[in-house]
Amino acid sequence: SAIYREGVLGRRPAVPTDFAELERRAAKASSAKAWAYVAGGAGEGRTMRNNRAAFDRWAVVPRMAHGQATRDLSVDLFGTRLPTPLLLAPVGAGQLIDPDCDLHVARAAAATGVPYVFTNQGGTPMEETAAAMGGGRHWMQLYWSTDEGLVDSLITRAEANGAEALVVTLDTTLLGWRPQDLNLGSLPFAQGKGIGQYTSDPRFLQIVRERIAAAKSSGTKPDTTITLGAVKSLISMTRQHPGTFWSNLRSPEPRASVEAFLDIYSNPGLSWSHLETLRERTRLPVVLKGILHPDDARRAFDLGVDAIVVSNHGGRQVDSSIASLDALIAVREAIGPEPTVLFDSGIRTGADVFMALAHGADACLLGRPYMYGVALAGQAGAEAVISNVLAELDLTMALTGATQARDISPDLVVANPSR
Ligand code: FNR
Repeated sequence: SAIYREGVLGRRPAVPTDFAELERRAAKASSAKAWAYVAGGAGEGRTMRNNRAAFDRWAVVPRMAHGQATRDLSVDLFGTRLPTPLLLAPVGAGQLIDPDCDLHVARAAAATGVPYVFTNQGGTPMEETAAAMGGGRHWMQLYWSTDEGLVDSLITRAEANGAEALVVTLDTTLLGWRPQDLNLGSLPFAQGKGIGQYTSDPRFLQIVRERIAAAKSSGTKPDTTITLGAVKSLISMTRQHPGTFWSNLRSPEPRASVEAFLDIYSNPGLSWSHLETLRERTRLPVVLKGILHPDDARRAFDLGVDAIVVSNHGGRQVDSSIASLDALIAVREAIGPEPTVLFDSGIRTGADVFMALAHGADACLLGRPYMYGVALAGQAGAEAVISNVLAELDLTMALTGATQARDISPDLVVANPSR
């Protein structure tokens, strides 16, 4: 591949081509709070370690002299064709790393042809992020709000915006126990970061106005711990995005917005009966993200969803949870080869994508690695990380005789005998 050739001809890459060095450099380039949030995980970090350890328990068995000089990385997912089996996972509050993180990632995704799953917790409204992609492909991720009107409003905007699928994330009805953030007293959303999808939403703004009116009439004092950071961050958002809602705001509104967001962004009482309503609420393909148990996978497909994402949220929700790769194996075994299953949590390299595909994933989502690219070099950094992962996947296919992404099958891997 071109990247490999440049590397061996002495040209230095835009970002390190190995994950360990990428991570080290990104940590140095980030503030303590940003790093705690993005790199951190739940509890003692056992789930994050499980995610990685699971990959070490398997080994690829390369094949020789297969005579195939070219590869086709494209895959079919519920009737649509993706150029490669890779998507960018929704990553919220990226503003901690870079004020324009969402836009950098959007442009990197468009440039590499990798679809970007917009986070519900973006700093930039989805309309602006979609515009930055100039026709690039994107999906929209949703957290199920306690306000059903807000659920509908976000879905309507996603549809109007050209989202190709709706991803409902099930594993974050409450934020996990995250000691790194707790120890720094840092919750990005309380600082007004990662709420751009909400503060650009007509239904959300209506809720905020109602809350302000109610607070005025009852004489309630707002929570001042939220105020300072939130107001500062929202003022800077106004400067970056002139002409948005924020330009017209004074301080009581940002404060009420942050409070409203924290109260309603996710629904701790989320149940299958909420999800049953999804099919009639949108014409988009529906994907449920955060499935780990085979019974939940069956339940999801019983509802008629188009796909699931086996994911433990990058180890950020439940500590000591099953490795996402182990869950993928169990889920695939339970539901058979047909239903579309996407995978994330622990993917660091192209070889990891290969392994997940061998275990039955139809495509993978990449999380932290592209964020580390942004931390080092903005759009160019994210682009380099994505290209590196795809280049290594392509090489691994070449050296194992897999000419099509769908040829990457269980018979290319064995339980790792050296472990
Ligand atoms: C996430 N993730 C996530 N998922 C989601 O559905 N909505 C979101 O807003 C976020 N926000 C978020 C922020 C940060 C900083 C991280 C690291 C992750 C989870 C994400 O989509 C994905 O499941 C994991 O990142 C995949 O694991 P890796 O690749 O980071 O190991």
